Amino acid sequence: MTSVPKPSTALQANGHQASAVRPEVRSTPAYPFTPVDAPFKLDQNESALDFPLTLRRLAVERMLARDWNRYPDLHAETLKAKIGAYEGWDQGGVVVTPGSNVIIKLLTELGGIGRRVLTVQPNFSVYELEGRMLGAQLTRVPLRADFGLDVAAMQRELACGGPGVLFLPQPHAPTGFLDTESDLRAVIDAAGDDWIVVIDEAYHQYSGSDYKSLVQERGNRVSLRTFSKAWGLAGLRLGYALAGAELAENLQKLVSAFNVSTLTQVVAEVALEHPQYVKVRAEEAIWERERMLRELSGLTKLRAHPSQANFFLLRTPDAAHAYAFLLSRGLLVRRQDRQPMLEGCLRVSVGTKEQNDLLLTAVLELDAE
Ligand SMILES: Cc1ncc(COP(=O)(O)O)c(C=O)c1O
Repeated sequence: MTSVPKPSTALQANGHQASAVRPEVRSTPAYPFTPVDAPFKLDQNESALDFPLTLRRLAVERMLARDWNRYPDLHAETLKAKIGAYEGWDQGGVVVTPGSNVIIKLLTELGGIGRRVLTVQPNFSVYELEGRMLGAQLTRVPLRADFGLDVAAMQRELACGGPGVLFLPQPHAPTGFLDTESDLRAVIDAAGDDWIVVIDEAYHQYSGSDYKSLVQERGNRVSLRTFSKAWGLAGLRLGYALAGAELAENLQKLVSAFNVSTLTQVVAEVALEHPQYVKVRAEEAIWERERMLRELSGLTKLRAHPSQANFFLLRTPDAAHAYAFLLSRGLLVRRQDRQPMLEGCLRVSVGTKEQNDLLLTAVLELDAE
């Protein structure tokens, strides 16, 4: 009997995958992040300080008293009530998910599939990736040279019509630029009711801004917030949307059942009962950011861009070299030089005072090379 060689299982599997997976997903690159080990992690805009130890202990104690064999509260109502009270927002307009990235996807599902996704360029890549994978028609409007919104260009784009989803980070990521309320209003007022207008306020504690009142004015607007930055809880994975009750109700339909674990709900509730640390630490980060920007204001070859977030852009003559140089000093930052307008740019998170001192020394040395 002659045996016919079988194609390898891996090859067969790949062949099936090619036709079974939607082309929009296949052609979209994976989220661009490669973890790198380094002593000083200034690459992900996390809080430099961990969730306070006393609160961690309190959360663990509460967890001990919970039933781990039971599903969590379906829609995390207690957590939503606490977020509502903290934000001064009707609980019916709060939606929680494991990270605000998930809400970005759900908002794209809500208003963007087969329709438009409009954002700026450069941008936070998740808006773009979700839009592409969900088959939206993606438009990116370049920012002004100072990284502010090009109001007229945005208005022109919106005048072409929806329906769709408009994503605007305030402060902007990855530049750290905060638009004035009047510029932001001029853009979002130009969006008709067939647009879902998303103001992503992931970093608002570092700019002292709060554009919730703009969201309150119209039922098609959403503010996105996260526990990953100023709350010091990136490992928890929790983000939330603040919207009108009707939009929130429809968004909630897209949230999978039991999507926020008991552990996450308990820790976030503890945080919301003791929110004082967030303000204090955000103020410290702002102070450190401004100190660094002041000390870097005399650079000759490099340039530190002003920022209203817990990170700033450092423009260098050669991003690959600057990245490697900083890494050789144990300082891990994030390259941003592949985006338009960000040639040579690295993004640096604000760290502890000690980490920031090391960064300053290394950058001044780099500038003097
Ligand atoms: C502008 C912006 N929005 C949203 C997020 C996502 O945050 P989360 O950790 O809540 O998914 C980030 C994270 O870096 C961000 O920079």
